Amino acid sequence: MASVPLPGEGARAPAVRAMFDRIAPGYDLLNRVMTLRVDQRWRRRLVAALAPRDGEALLDLCAGTMDVAAEARRRAPGLRILAADFSLPMLARGAAKTGLPAAQADALALPLPAARFDLATVAFGVRNLESLDRGLAELARVLRPGGRLGVLEFFRSTSGGSRLVHAAYNRLALPVLGRLLSPDPEAYRYLVESMERFATRPEFEEACRRAGFGQVRGETLFPGVCGLVTAVRSP
Ligand SMILES: C[S@@+](CC[C@H](N)C(=O)[O-])C[C@H]1O[C@@H](n2cnc3c(N)ncnc32)[C@H](O)[C@@H]1O
Repeated sequence: MASVPLPGEGARAPAVRAMFDRIAPGYDLLNRVMTLRVDQRWRRRLVAALAPRDGEALLDLCAGTMDVAAEARRRAPGLRILAADFSLPMLARGAAKTGLPAAQADALALPLPAARFDLATVAFGVRNLESLDRGLAELARVLRPGGRLGVLEFFRSTSGGSRLVHAAYNRLALPVLGRLLSPDPEAYRYLVESMERFATRPEFEEACRRAGFGQVRGETLFPGVCGLVTAVRSP
């Protein structure tokens, strides 16, 4: 199987999309096992940080199987939610699971009007975009001024110690889990190596400012592994 190009390796959207299409059936189980179910706690932190209110409109981008959208609805049942992703098999599982509205769309060219949403979430999605700056520009476009953005991601680690722990887990545990749980070892290689190639959290925060966001705040949810960044669309 051809390898999926990593962040910074040029045109890669079709290969990334094909990979998610392939792994969609086992994606939820894989997530839970690989993170020992902590992934759902991280999604709850993301939604809680944005404090959604009934009546507001939320775009969950790179929604995949729609766990964030489901958590947002649980927290604010009157929220108007749209989940968007370019992988139909991922979205189909999410729509069947949650019953929430979903649209197949490319994050780099959203077929949505400007200033349409009060809130936007992206969980473990921005690392996969062919152009981070274009993705953030699209998010800034569809959020109204004052709209809140929340991003969860496996940012590249900045500290030597946590990079070591991270690399050990990635190299030792993940490949074993990958072989046990997924028929697609290439997806595991991509997952691990794309984490190691992506932006650090401070680099990502700077990209948010460049794209027109203010009040950019980041926190580490799991050292060397998972971070949360929130920001507000500048007027
Ligand atoms: C790791 S999954 C995360 C799914 C979900 N947000 C979660 O929390 O589990 C990344 C998702 O991003 C989607 N994705 C990647 N690049 C995209 C793009 N350019 N446009 C839309 N979706 C994209 C993939 O199809 C995949 O479903």
